[in-house]
Amino acid sequence: MARQRKNLPESSKETKSRNSSSSNGSSSPNTKIPRQKNVFHFWKQLVLVIVLGVAIIFGYMGYLETRVNTPFDNKKVVARTGLNVPEQFWGSYRPGVYFGLKTRHPHSMVTGLMWYFPKRLRPGGDGIRHWCEQGDNLSKYGWLQHDGSSFGVQDIEDGPFILTTSFVKNPGGQNGGEWTARISVDVINKYKDMIDPTEQVSIIWYAALDAETEGFIAPTNSATEVTGIRGETSSLGEFKMKLFPQTGEIDHESFLSTVSPGLNLLKETVISALRLAQDNPKGPRKIILGGQINPVGVERKDPNFVAIQVTAKLPFSIDVVFESKTVVNRKDKLVGELYSESLEWHQSRFNQRFEDTFALKSKGYNQKQINFAQAALSNMIGGIGYFYGASKVQSFYTKEPINYWRAPLYTAVPSRSFFPRGFLWDEGFHGLLISQWDLDIELDIIGHWFDLINVEGWIPREQILGLEAVAKVPAEFVVQWNTNANPPTFFLTLQYILDKYEEDFTNERLAMLERLYPRLQAWFQWFNNTQIGPVAGSYRWRGRDPLTDRELNPKTLTSGLDDFPRASHPTELERHIDLYCWMAVASSTMARLGIILGRESFLKYQQTADYLYNNELMDNLHWSNFSERYADYGLHTDSVKLVRPKSLPRQQNQNLEMIRTVSKQPEYRLVDSTFGYVNVFPFLLQILEPNSPKLGKILTDIRDPNLIWTDYGLRSLSKNSPLYMKRNTEHDPPYWRGQIWVNINFLAVKALAHYSKTEGAYQDQAKKVYEELRKNVVDNVIRQYYKTGYIWEQYNDKTGEGSGCRPFTGWTALSVVMMSEHF
Ligand SMILES: *[C@@H]1O[C@H](CO)[C@@H](O)[C@H](O)[C@H]1NC(C)=O
Ligand SMILES: *[C@@H]1O[C@H](CO)[C@@H](O)[C@H](O)[C@H]1NC(C)=O
Ligand SMILES: *[C@@H]1O[C@H](CO)[C@@H](O)[C@H](O)[C@H]1NC(C)=O
Repeated sequence: MARQRKNLPESSKETKSRNSSSSNGSSSPNTKIPRQKNVFHFWKQLVLVIVLGVAIIFGYMGYLETRVNTPFDNKKVVARTGLNVPEQFWGSYRPGVYFGLKTRHPHSMVTGLMWYFPKRLRPGGDGIRHWCEQGDNLSKYGWLQHDGSSFGVQDIEDGPFILTTSFVKNPGGQNGGEWTARISVDVINKYKDMIDPTEQVSIIWYAALDAETEGFIAPTNSATEVTGIRGETSSLGEFKMKLFPQTGEIDHESFLSTVSPGLNLLKETVISALRLAQDNPKGPRKIILGGQINPVGVERKDPNFVAIQVTAKLPFSIDVVFESKTVVNRKDKLVGELYSESLEWHQSRFNQRFEDTFALKSKGYNQKQINFAQAALSNMIGGIGYFYGASKVQSFYTKEPINYWRAPLYTAVPSRSFFPRGFLWDEGFHGLLISQWDLDIELDIIGHWFDLINVEGWIPREQILGLEAVAKVPAEFVVQWNTNANPPTFFLTLQYILDKYEEDFTNERLAMLERLYPRLQAWFQWFNNTQIGPVAGSYRWRGRDPLTDRELNPKTLTSGLDDFPRASHPTELERHIDLYCWMAVASSTMARLGIILGRESFLKYQQTADYLYNNELMDNLHWSNFSERYADYGLHTDSVKLVRPKSLPRQQNQNLEMIRTVSKQPEYRLVDSTFGYVNVFPFLLQILEPNSPKLGKILTDIRDPNLIWTDYGLRSLSKNSPLYMKRNTEHDPPYWRGQIWVNINFLAVKALAHYSKTEGAYQDQAKKVYEELRKNVVDNVIRQYYKTGYIWEQYNDKTGEGSGCRPFTGWTALSVVMMSEHF
């Protein structure tokens, strides 16, 4: 179906949008006032002019103040969502909870699971599981299979117990279909002999409404069945959730129907509603939910939170069946045996599709490796969330943070426990895997992100939307500044999509790219205007703090590589090699997309691309003859140290915070005493010409174990760099100062694949390093997964052990692409 599109003329919509020209400032000079030499009139006029002038200035300031949260004025990229895409309506779109389903509606009802083991419940509700928390110390959890639209299966190991949570969706009706979820709990085999046979589990299944959901929920009461939940909302219509125990012996059952202060406090609401009960004075004490509870002092009267608790002996399993009233001739209820069959059918279809997509079996991987790869992909796909809310943003012109407009975001997340929300540069990496699995899901994700672009062409880099998301973020990271960038990795995703799918562009996909294009143009322009460097062709990350004396090397959070050492003294004269390379990729991708869409504007992107891909320019700006490396340029000295200030005699025991001392004055120079990820960007992003001797040098350097080569992948900073594994402040341990990161290793492996296939002087060398690096990274990620139960944020450069947060199935899941070699 490709290319079946008319060649659109350079349409006006492309250029029109950029300026929502403000009328605030325009004052048409009042030509009707007759000229008079009268002094009184002169003064009157002068006053008028001053008043007008002040009004204009204030009006203009007001206008500038609103720029940061004014949406880009053009067609939205996301054309269909909510109930208009029924197959994607329900999903596990709450990546921050262990198991929960909601819909792609701004004010969706949420459903979810909590559990605990009564004998192990500690005071204060300690032991109740709900949000993915590292502190829960689970030995393992994550989706093993998940296709992003119809089903998913997850294992959760909690001490000696294992829970399996799964769901299968069933299309039909007018309200986004139905589903069944199954929760099974058992003792892990190896612990069977050690566990008291009377040990029980308490499963809590709940539904909750947010403050703006229109509708109600209520417990169902029936003498013969387990209590369920029924209700009606504007998007779901009338529905019922019934619970069907499958295996195991239920000890008791209870419910809670109450008003919770918010979706961020559901567990707290449960904890405050737990009661002790005894059937008779000698009987065992049971922990139950308190039933109907009307909290005092809350406005809302109708319950917005209904939870059912079932306590049973192990093994235990229960099906939760969601039924929509608009499904009229339901053939079979998806429960029990029928559910098992349906789940099996989905699983075998998944296995087939996985093999068709990644061909791991045919490449000779064993089942254990394939299971890892399925889990990595599934946790990325199953971790896709749907958020709704407004970021807090700030610009130079706003006195304090203000709200962005409220909007939805459909996005994958880096980590379900630690970063369960959208991150701009992560998402471009995620797209390199998701688009291989399901192109339309990825295009939908891209569309949602670009609908968040403002009139300036800026997209906030961290998206903290909705109560659940806000609750997970330290206050210092909440506000997003519109001066700050983040690597435009979506251009990498687009590049991949154009390479792989150009022939499969249906009209619908092309139309989506058409809607996307003006927004990409605005985004590109924003980078090209606001992140420009001091000399022609150079670029500079904003957002570094030039005044701090606490940081050993002021961080560059905007670059994504947080504490990777840059020039020691941030100034406006510095230039950054990684951003230069990102801009080269951005411009060439824009040119390519422009050609595919028949836009004449492709030409100016092509010119910029030609300019930046010119290795001579790059060398002039960033190559160090002395160290024979690419490097940042700026005001720099290596002679920095954190020291604790001597406290004054009177403050004797006061421990003052360490500050940085500089023992040698900084000077303008290339920061070439440091070697690590930043220095090899011209190679990572394939800007270097294949015959460049500098490519040969980089290939030799990255293979050197004294620099960044390890048996587990490339470390972020070479061992002989001055700040290798150094803390940035006494409270801020090293992060990108030695640890192995899989996103950058992925770029290296991809670049090596490229240079080994491209005619050039270093083909064989690239091929050799490619094989070794790919194997090192993939083998280690798999080894650590089986050793620890998790995929990690980063890996230790000496031992290969996982570090940082877990599970981290954002870009670390790109291991799957390295296995399949589909770059
Ligand atoms: C976490 O779990 C492991 C094994 O499951 C156990 O050895 C360790 O003591 C636990 N740590 C904490 C802080 O509970
Ligand atoms: C990007 O900025 C440079 C420098 O200002 C300019 O020469 C170039 O034309 C711009 N590229 C595009 C595509 O606008
Ligand atoms: C680096 O070496 C090249 C080739 O010898 C030379 O053209 C260039 O001017 C040198 N650059 C600097 C900054 O010395």
